[in-house]
Amino acid sequence: MSLVRTNLAILGLQWGDEGKGKVVDLLSPHFHQVVRFQGGNNAGHTVVVDGQSIALHQVPSGALHPGCFLVVGNGVVLNLEVFQQELDRLRTRGFDLAGRLMLSDRAHLILPHHIALDLWREGGANKIGTTGRGIGPAYEMKAGRMGVRLGDLLHPETLADRIRPGYEEVRLRLGAGAELPSLETVVEDLLRIADPLLPFIGDSQSHLVAAWERGDRILFEGAQATLLDIDHGTYPFVTSSNCSLGGLFTGTGLPPKALDKILGIAKAYTTRVGSGPFPAEMHDATGERLRQVGREFGTTTGRPRRCGWFDAPITAHACRTNGVDGLAIMKLDVLDGLDEVGLIVGYRTGEGTITTELPSCAADWKGLQPEVKYFKGWASTRGITKHGELPAEAHAYLEALVESVEVPIAYLSTGPDRQEGCVYPGTFLEPLLG
Ligand code: GDP
Ligand code: IMO
Ligand code: MG
Repeated sequence: MSLVRTNLAILGLQWGDEGKGKVVDLLSPHFHQVVRFQGGNNAGHTVVVDGQSIALHQVPSGALHPGCFLVVGNGVVLNLEVFQQELDRLRTRGFDLAGRLMLSDRAHLILPHHIALDLWREGGANKIGTTGRGIGPAYEMKAGRMGVRLGDLLHPETLADRIRPGYEEVRLRLGAGAELPSLETVVEDLLRIADPLLPFIGDSQSHLVAAWERGDRILFEGAQATLLDIDHGTYPFVTSSNCSLGGLFTGTGLPPKALDKILGIAKAYTTRVGSGPFPAEMHDATGERLRQVGREFGTTTGRPRRCGWFDAPITAHACRTNGVDGLAIMKLDVLDGLDEVGLIVGYRTGEGTITTELPSCAADWKGLQPEVKYFKGWASTRGITKHGELPAEAHAYLEALVESVEVPIAYLSTGPDRQEGCVYPGTFLEPLLG
């Protein structure tokens, strides 16, 4: 086995939409394999090339680099109709994935009744602001041993029997009046939609183990983020997969020793879309400014994102959970032109003490008020490519941010385009990009 390899994980450290897509696109030319390992089309990863924006939901963000082989691992849940649309959109923009894509035969399918159940729940009192893409029900069916996997499509005669148990449970739950396609229609539609994708289905674990053994460089693209992780996030206001590091191993079948470095992605401020604890949230003009300047509207659903200052306790928690080696701090330019920039260094409890601990219960977040440290603002960082050219005030802010999460910065992003940003000298990213 080759010893010369740097297999790298890209993981979100907040509540998603940190800019993972940009970082994966930027790093992809230096990797042979780019792998998604969890989540589904709840993800929306935007890549900007020469001012043109491309949104990817299920296709790994290495798609724009012809030298990258793209793998959708077993931990992903896939909506094949949406996947095909995404392939078509990419093709019309000149990116053909034929011959460089594999979909795991063990990945689970998102089916119409999963989406119906997700939407039905979101219409009730327990709504959590999901993306409405059927993600939760697809993972539930997987855990409940009623899931349908891509490999089942290669045995069409068994498909109706595989789908039936889950389908009938949803029918029962939603009642006879629910607008669901018949089981026969679900099977027929699925086979028709799946047909052009069948050649891509394969044993992704064997593919990745072989790639690892021959010394291919492998880039793992996380979707969502640690605070949305089903175990380590703000439960129950989370997604239904392990978006933190553990999900990488279960979602690919590779062992931990196949991974060399972990790059944690965080915005220079914090956003969240959907319901749930978010102590940083600013309901004032500054929050609105971050939303407008940062274009903080969901890539998948178009919903306005909730905005606030950088939250050190949640980001430090994410760094610990994932063993992050270096930070990619994104969207620093969005803070340009502010008189002062805040950094949440802890939370003030109802008793007046300061804590950096995250409560495990959603109810316990309610009494927490952010303890904000303010820094002098700066004029502009947009497009800066050398960290030595940053304004002194931006330096001071970033130094305090690093101190608060105890992980160094490896990459700083100063605009959406590929060339807008800088790799920090002396960090593990530097030789990787060389
Ligand atoms: P992801 O889900 O983590 O891939 O992030 P999204 O793509 O949902 O959201 C990040 C958004 O910020 C995208 O529209 C990116 O084009 C944009 N973006 C990424 N980096 C920067 C940056 O440094 N500055 C600015 N202004 N926008 C950025
Ligand atoms: P990327 O990969 C931001 C949020 C939803 C909701 C919760 C559960 O682009 O960072 P789900 O549909 O997964 O059952 O919804 O998770 N959510 C995301 N928020 N970015 C994402 O993905 C998200 N994927 C899910 O808004 O609060
Ligand atoms: Mg996103």
